[in-house]
Amino acid sequence: MTASSSSASGNHSLLPTHIAIVPDGNGRWAEKRGLSRLEGHREGMENMYRLVEYVDEYKIPYLTLYGFSTENWSRPEEEVLGLFSSLTEFIKRTSPDVHRRGIKINHIGRLSELPEEFRQSIIDAVELTENNTGMTLNIAFNYGGRAEITDAIRRIIDDGIPSEKITEDMIENYLYTAGMPSVDLLIRTSDERRLSNFLIWQTSYSEYYFTKVLWPDFRKKDIDKALEFYRQRKRRFGGL
Ligand code: IPE
Ligand code: MG
Repeated sequence: MTASSSSASGNHSLLPTHIAIVPDGNGRWAEKRGLSRLEGHREGMENMYRLVEYVDEYKIPYLTLYGFSTENWSRPEEEVLGLFSSLTEFIKRTSPDVHRRGIKINHIGRLSELPEEFRQSIIDAVELTENNTGMTLNIAFNYGGRAEITDAIRRIIDDGIPSEKITEDMIENYLYTAGMPSVDLLIRTSDERRLSNFLIWQTSYSEYYFTKVLWPDFRKKDIDKALEFYRQRKRRFGGL
């Protein structure tokens, strides 16, 4: 059974509400073809846009994409600068189409430490789409799960919250994903089986789907396989 036949029959509870993706393998994809790593990243970006369209067609309310982690700064400067320059162009070029689809773009991560032009392209995309009521698309740039929890603790203390008022729900409201549901399905490509500091709070009860497919090759049939995998899980959340 395909995901579309399921949603066509109205069985939406079998579709995840929130999908998170670690798109990995751009570099290996490029190396296999004798291309530069940057060309792999560019191909990966084009695929991000295709993927947003596929996921949006299933009317999945939340999609979170890992674009650049707080640890990725340790890569060679040439790769980092090239990546941000391509990303700036990519965000400027694609955000009007994303907007036309009614998608709301939201950034998660430490925005202030990102290169100025790139930062501005994100701010513009978020502003352009802020009143949209369709899918929420979280883009994680300079994101780290530990940084997110650290930032939450700082703000809780700055707000003068007494310790007895601290609950899990309250902490959630201080995360970058405040007001959004936890992740139901986490997908990582390129045969790596790590979370790599992504959404460590929000994925504590997620289903994890790993595939050998390298990110630039991950297409509609691959998202369908991930959704089929999800449908077959029995989620018990610690119960029986
Ligand atoms: C993922 O592809 C993109 C980013 C982390 C920015 P990689 O760059 O990690 O590709 P591999 O793992 O070297 O193949
Ligand atoms: Mg990698």
